[in-house]
This record gives sequence, C-alpha cells and structure tokens, in this order.
Amino acid sequence: MNIKHILSLLKPYFLVITLFLPQLGHAADNAQQSASLYSRLGGYDAVTAVVSDLLPRLISDPQLGRFWANRGTDGMLREKQLVVNFIVSAAGGPLLYTGRDMVVSHKGMKISESDWRIFMGHLHATLDKFKLPKREYADVIGFIDSQKPLMVEP
Ligand code: HEM
Repeated sequence: MNIKHILSLLKPYFLVITLFLPQLGHAADNAQQSASLYSRLGGYDAVTAVVSDLLPRLISDPQLGRFWANRGTDGMLREKQLVVNFIVSAAGGPLLYTGRDMVVSHKGMKISESDWRIFMGHLHATLDKFKLPKREYADVIGFIDSQKPLMVEP
C-alpha cells in the first residue's frame, strides 16, 4: 500500500473534518455567549477582588464616607461578604444570597442622585483598574445601575 492509496482511503475523513470544523468553532462561540457573567468575570476570586477594591474607595470618599462612619470592623467584614455573595448570586454564580433585599437594606439612608453618581464614578475607576473586557464591563455597569431605583431616595 503506497502513500497515494492511504491518502485516498482517508479522503472521506478529511471531507468530514473540513465540513464540521466551522461548526465546532460556532459551538465554542455559543458556549462563550451563554456563559454566565460570573464565569466570564473570572469567578469568586475576581468578584471578591473587585469588591475589595471598591469598598475602600467608597468609605474614603468625602461625600459617601458618612454611610460608613463609625461602623465596627466586623460589621464592615459582614457587609463586604454580603455584597460579594449578592453579586456572585446575581451574576449566575453558585452562592445563595441570604442578606436583606436591596430596598430594605438601604431604606432610610437617604442615598441621593448625587451619591449615586459618585458611587458609579468609583465603580468605573475599579473596573478600569481591572481592565474588564468591553462586554463584561457593560454587563456589570448595567446590572449595578439597574439597582438604582431600589436604593436612591427622593
Ligand atoms: C451609593 C450607593 C450605596 C451606598 C451608600 C450603600 C451603603 C450601604 C451600607 C451603609 C450598608 C450597611 C447597612 C447595614 O449594615 O445596615 C449596605 C449594605 C449592603 N449593600 Fe449597599 N450601598 C450602596 C450601593 C449598593 C449596591 C449598588 C449594591 C449591590 C451591588 C449594594 C449591596 C449591598 C448589600 C448586599 C448589603 C448588605 C445587606 C444586608 O446587610 O443584609 N449596595 N450598603
């Protein structure tokens, strides 16, 4: 059996591979499209890193600092963990959020439009620092901004 003969025997397989390779590419693209925001962000550690960067910015902001003035260390750690769990859960990750809902937990703080603008400014700074890809950046900003009506009080 010479090489020519072997190649002619393999011809149908080459044809099948050539026909289906693009489909495999599409399947990979679709998997990426439908992956949860949680996994596209990089999972639990990535969410924690973002929250760990954002919270100190908020606390040290001259206008927003009032919301966290005189809070105990353990209370702050508890809040940080709840924020991580909330975001992981909302982004499709494997955690159950057991904290209070966004209306109940922010009601009465008198978060204003101006507070919210400053908050979003800090969020942009954090996301810029982590160099999020365009789609994930837009998804995070979109989700957080969708929470605004639940927290900003007239
Ligand atoms: C200007 C914007 C915001 C301010 C000033 C703010 C302030 C606070 C403060 C002071 C607490 C502690 C409440 C307490 O211990 O009783 C808190 C709790 C919390 N916040 Fe915010 N927050 C803001 C936006 C957000 C956003 C956008 C999210 C969602 C990603 C969020 C998620 C949470 C969660 C999950 C808790 C814990 C709820 C619980 O204790 O059961 N917050 N927030």
